[in-house]
Amino acid sequence: MRSLLFVPGDSERKLEKGFSSGADVVIVDLEDSVSLDDKPRARTIAAAVIAAHRASASAKIYVRINDFSTGLGDDDLAAVVPARPDGIMLPKCNSGADVQRLAGLLRVFEAESGWEDGATAILPIVTETAAGVLSAASYAETTHPRLAGLTWGAEDLATAVGARTNRDERGRYTDVFRLARSLTVLGASHAGVAAIDTVFVDFRDMDGLRAECVEAERDGFTGKMAIHPAQVALINEVFTPSEEAVAHARDVVAAFEQAGNPGVLAIGGKMYDRPHLRGAQRLLARARG
Ligand code: COA
Ligand code: MG
Repeated sequence: MRSLLFVPGDSERKLEKGFSSGADVVIVDLEDSVSLDDKPRARTIAAAVIAAHRASASAKIYVRINDFSTGLGDDDLAAVVPARPDGIMLPKCNSGADVQRLAGLLRVFEAESGWEDGATAILPIVTETAAGVLSAASYAETTHPRLAGLTWGAEDLATAVGARTNRDERGRYTDVFRLARSLTVLGASHAGVAAIDTVFVDFRDMDGLRAECVEAERDGFTGKMAIHPAQVALINEVFTPSEEAVAHARDVVAAFEQAGNPGVLAIGGKMYDRPHLRGAQRLLARARG
């Protein structure tokens, strides 16, 4: 999961484009990009599009449902689970308990649709409420086999805490949002799942997107969400481990093997111990896709 492209669920035209964008995941959105009046129509379109594409598309298909506080989530699931999406994105997730609650609902809808238990993954957005940010550790306590990763959002959180903006005059996220970002990386690592970076909304600014991707990859995120097809190729590029990084990781793994798997060794005058080995193994797993 390097690139995850949001597509408004009520737009057949954009949905078709989304599947030819090269994104690893197409997220059919039933939440913020669809008006309340359009939700029923978007559910019908989403189900039809998933059914039409799920066999042939190279991308995984996720659906972002409406959060539990809206009372719309059950109808979203009832409409789309029969079409068998690969996963559900849960916005405004408050803690691991919300993941458990969604897993319970999925279990019922999967059984009713004749799909095996656990067929549908869950990707929560964990920083859209203050409670969510403060509960980042809870995803490890309730680690669920359906949990595909954690991702974060800065727009709804600004509204939640009453911040007028989430970036300063230089374009950097302000403290509350940097904390939310950091807690996403820590919460995901604690739960043993992928950390996925949030969207970059200025979709014509490719330099800005690149800078944000590079920073995210450096800090431990392994993918990023997109809102426009033009962002996908760049995200895929930055989150694909480079040939040099792969070659170096191979050297590290080989050195440990040749030395009889010790705790620590030296390569080219530098110390490497178990965390370096684990990091190298993880990078190779990511490079395999
Ligand atoms: N998925 C698929 N196709 C998309 C797309 C997306 N997210 N965003 C744009 N496109 C398509 C457009 O339909 C257009 O195709 P067309 O010329 O055949 O009609 C083409 O790409 C170029 O689009 P462009 O003119 O540059 O942008 P726009 O003004 O049409 O759309 C947005 C801008 C922001 C409205 C649009 O990118 C969008 O809907 N993004 C997703 C929003 C979303 O899901 N938000 C929720 C998560 S934060
Ligand atoms: Mg939102």
